[in-house]
Amino acid sequence: MNFDVERYRNDFPGLNRSIYGRPLTYLDNTATSQTPKCVVDAIEAMYYNSKANVHRGVHTLSQEMTMLQEAARERVRRFINAYSTEEIIFTRGTTESINLVAASMGRGFRDGDEVIVSVMEHHSNIVPWQLLSLNGRNITLRVIPMDERGVLDMDAYRTMFNEHTAMVSVTHVSNVLGTINPVKEIAAEAHRHGVPVLIDGAQAVSHRRVDVSDIDCDFYAFSAHKMYGPTGVGVLYGKKSMLEKMPPYQGGGEMIAHVSFDRTTYADLPFKFEAGTPDFIGIAAMHKAIDYMESIGMERIERYEKEILDYATGRMESEFPSLRIYGKAPEKDAIVSFMLGDAHPYDVGLLLDKQGIAVRTGHHCAQPLLESLGLEGVVRASFALYNTHEEVDRFIAALHRIEPMLL
Ligand code: ALA
Repeated sequence: MNFDVERYRNDFPGLNRSIYGRPLTYLDNTATSQTPKCVVDAIEAMYYNSKANVHRGVHTLSQEMTMLQEAARERVRRFINAYSTEEIIFTRGTTESINLVAASMGRGFRDGDEVIVSVMEHHSNIVPWQLLSLNGRNITLRVIPMDERGVLDMDAYRTMFNEHTAMVSVTHVSNVLGTINPVKEIAAEAHRHGVPVLIDGAQAVSHRRVDVSDIDCDFYAFSAHKMYGPTGVGVLYGKKSMLEKMPPYQGGGEMIAHVSFDRTTYADLPFKFEAGTPDFIGIAAMHKAIDYMESIGMERIERYEKEILDYATGRMESEFPSLRIYGKAPEKDAIVSFMLGDAHPYDVGLLLDKQGIAVRTGHHCAQPLLESLGLEGVVRASFALYNTHEEVDRFIAALHRIEPMLL
């Protein structure tokens, strides 16, 4: 397809590094993406020229910074097609977004309640729900299984609801298998049973267009650092009708309407959920990152990455009889997890690094999934809009070099 990847690569000075004298081939985009110059420049300019706390001052700098933060909120709203900026809560990232929902909604859960998750969840969408079992209250996870391709068993999912089901919380895209889950169908089924739905969108938002109104989920969580933005910033989308009913997650700062020693009343949405000074510069920089992605086009990014995925998968499968790919869903993002024979993933990762190739190895914060595959870890190559066919060639050539050393 017509995608000027070299032009986009120039936007990312970090990609010009060399590692052990070889050009960097960055294939760890699922862990975090690189950041374009326009985003880093914006951060620098704000630190030098506009740094002032938000929603707390009448002076010009504070007003300016407040406007930048609130413009970012509107930009995020538009990016994911939420109904209102009241539904956009700024957090530290996906993990905090999920913890916020679990802690706040979870206060109303009763002993014996159940949360439906899938077998391919990241620990961030497992542990926050487990933390709700305390003081004699027991909350159980019901786990949607998958088939050998890494496709969720929707028939099994439909049978999991009962009067104890309190929540469904499922990932949009698996960070290990790359599977794109049918989140719209998952949400519709949950709503048939009157159960709210959270979607972990950490691996989706930078690879395809996400429309929370179309999915009709109650919550959607994601992080800026995986979408070419800064670290330490994330978003929780929540339907206004849900957020209004929920108690605050943390206290302090601007989340209040009035405080006295006897009683505190809370601010309106979205501020009720934003205790303490937010990372306002990070938030405004996320705005730039969204502008950057949209200037290329989410549909074009999705198509290009699919092309790279197909090319990498094709070569890996045809050239390495000993290589096994985990995750073969028909709907799949550009993530390839694999084993090279029985070589230890760390050994593969270290030898790839010596050739300038950055991949992730290990359990990928999804230990239950890896255990269900009978593995302790895998090697994962994950792609972004700036990865090229030549980089795939380099990766394949490196695998050819290391295969005889390890097998
Ligand atoms: N969740 C990130 C990953 O999959 C960190 O690598």
